[in-house]
Amino acid sequence: MTLYGVGLGPGASDLISVRGREILDGVDVVYSPGRLSRAVATEHVPESRIGDLDFPMTSDEDRLREAWKEAAAEIAPEARDGDVAFVTLGDPNVYSTFGHLRRTLDAFHPDIGVEIVPGISAMTAFATALDVEVEAGAGLALREAAGGRAPTGPDRMVLFKVTDAPETARKLDQAGYDVRFGRRLFMEAGETVVTADAERVADRDYYTLAYAERRGLETSRATDEFAADADANSRVSATADPEVSDD
Ligand SMILES: C[S@@+](CC[C@H](N)C(=O)[O-])C[C@H]1O[C@@H](n2cnc3c(N)ncnc32)[C@H](O)[C@@H]1O
Repeated sequence: MTLYGVGLGPGASDLISVRGREILDGVDVVYSPGRLSRAVATEHVPESRIGDLDFPMTSDEDRLREAWKEAAAEIAPEARDGDVAFVTLGDPNVYSTFGHLRRTLDAFHPDIGVEIVPGISAMTAFATALDVEVEAGAGLALREAAGGRAPTGPDRMVLFKVTDAPETARKLDQAGYDVRFGRRLFMEAGETVVTADAERVADRDYYTLAYAERRGLETSRATDEFAADADANSRVSATADPEVSDD
């Protein structure tokens, strides 16, 4: 039988995919790695079918390996007997616990079949929430920026795991970037904040990202000449005789 890695999307319960919802309907157990993914999962399945797993918030690799092995040992027998799901916020393949779990299963329980149902990742949801268009031809890099880190290089970056927004903003400003922050985007839990003011998101909240764009970045779009047409049209209508308008 199968372990499905199901992406729940950014947090709003109606942003899961139809396929993801169908999988959750059909499996015996839905494993959740954290409180927020659990809260979203319980919008779709009864509590009685949720299996909680404990992953410590630590960078101690020995402790993490132990937790992944324990989770894999719990999931493997259930996935041999029936279908089960492991849910993650966003997409299971983007900076996710699911990747560690999958590799641990491959190592210790290689007979378990795994299928992935993608979810809307914060990696793309940020664009709508922050009103950023990643236009044709533009490059965009994904980075992590925990603890006030401020990676630089590409013209446009989405920075995940922003835990010290003022420090990240200060360093990126010095490096020549404009920065905006998005917190709890498309989430039902907590307050959604979109701001260029790092002080507004100075308190630590794990569900914070940043978008950094090199200052003065030149863009050239095929539609740029429409702006001149729109300008000319508005000048014509401003000087038109009100007597001959169609009102
Ligand atoms: C471990 S990564 C998980 C990413 C997730 N798998 C995805 O595809 O979006 C967690 C980081 O993603 C970002 N993130 C995830 N969901 C978010 C949301 N709804 N709003 C803002 N940032 C979010 C935050 O930077 C957070 O620290």
